[in-house]
Amino acid sequence: MTRDTLSITDNRTGQNYELPVTDGTIRAIDLRQIKVSEEDFGLMAYDPAYLNTASCRSTITYIDGDRSILRYRGYPIEQLAEHATFLEVAYLLAEGELPTREQLSRWEEDVRYHTYVHTNVIKFLTGFRYDAHPMGMLLGTVGALSTFYPDAKNISDAENRYTQRVRLMAKLPTIAAFAFRHSRGLPYEFPRNDLDYIANFVNMTFSIGGKHEPNKVLQRALEILLILHADHEQNCSTSAVRSVGSSHVDPFSAVSAGIAALYGPLHGGANEAVLKMLDQIQSKADVPKFVEQVKQGKGRLMGFGHRVYKSYDPRAKLIKRTADEVFEQTGLNPKLEIALELERIALEDDYFISRRLYPNVDFYSGLIYQAMGYPSDYFTVLFAIGRLPGWLAQWAEMLGDKEQKIARPRQVYVGEDERQFVPIDQR
Ligand code: SDX
Repeated sequence: MTRDTLSITDNRTGQNYELPVTDGTIRAIDLRQIKVSEEDFGLMAYDPAYLNTASCRSTITYIDGDRSILRYRGYPIEQLAEHATFLEVAYLLAEGELPTREQLSRWEEDVRYHTYVHTNVIKFLTGFRYDAHPMGMLLGTVGALSTFYPDAKNISDAENRYTQRVRLMAKLPTIAAFAFRHSRGLPYEFPRNDLDYIANFVNMTFSIGGKHEPNKVLQRALEILLILHADHEQNCSTSAVRSVGSSHVDPFSAVSAGIAALYGPLHGGANEAVLKMLDQIQSKADVPKFVEQVKQGKGRLMGFGHRVYKSYDPRAKLIKRTADEVFEQTGLNPKLEIALELERIALEDDYFISRRLYPNVDFYSGLIYQAMGYPSDYFTVLFAIGRLPGWLAQWAEMLGDKEQKIARPRQVYVGEDERQFVPIDQR
């Protein structure tokens, strides 16, 4: 009968150890018993960037990187993108079940009720330079919201956590839309409670003189994109929210840490970097030259590759399909031709095949956002609106996990041994 254990022989001492294997993992703390002497601290696992470290047990999102599978609470992303609304998915991620009609309408009503921000937030936003990056504005403003809601510190109270979740879901689109208006020098368009979540966000962003002709196809396409971005297990920004949240700070501060991580070009900032890359390539004819430069290590093919997906990102497939519907409304984005050629060449080239590099969620999303009228520096803001429900669900799961405590990794010290202070005139 096979035993779910790992037998380890420490050749330094000849000692044998038996470690339990659970869910395909050993507990790193079980390594500490492996010592060369009584005063030895014991073995640790060394894993820079946590390439092979599970930080938690989660029931929220399941990814199979080899089989291009992504499920939220067990539901395939393809079905949620086709049938669900974004607020329905946000409810599912947080509560673990799809809402009944009554639960959904209460959730929608609660969110609709909280879409306004304190007028001081507007003063705060107008303080940014005219050309401030909207992600920097979002990062600063969401963090500042913690000063408007000091009750949010009471994270141990479930009702209070729900209130803060509603406030963040309701106010992030308002702040995002105001950041857009700020960059255009336009007066802010305030939330309208007669519109649904997506229509309200689009109206606050694009309406002129209170008028914006809604395009239902584009609004549904935006909603699908938000659904596809809603959660993705322990990605960089979610890990940031969990880690910062583990200090028991309020959720506004923890989410602002997630926004900061998402801002980076290797993570959520990649959709903006893809458009910059396509602008740099300029034409389809220039694609082979660009690919050669990437293969020589001169830069990366932005929107390609993934830590977990070593196959086609299932979201990229759905986004590509959504792109066709959007371009029918807006006219073809000329950069799509370059992107399709890039994908065609990369998927045939051994450099990318051998490294299992495929288009990820960011490769095509920017083309759609641009066709919808968003500037490239705003794409990651849209990613943040999509990812917010995932951050909030993961934050709550971390708080409720009895095994979790404040995140505080260890290190391997490779610096100087003890040495004496040297007075400045002897240095
Ligand atoms: C997101 O984690 C998530 O779930 C993230 C996300 C989410 O929903 O939260 O899916 C969203 O962030 C998608 C990723 C967006 N980023 C990009 O598109 C930026 C370009 N991609 C890469 O920088 C990279 O692929 C990462 C950051 C996404 C993944 O990096 P890894 O897993 O650490 O891989 P690596 O850097 O160790 O690369 C392995 C090899 C290296 O080559 P060698 O050193 O072995 O020769 O692959 C090469 C890399 O140079 N490589 C690339 C490449 N990505 C990796 N070469 C060219 N172009 C690329 N895009």
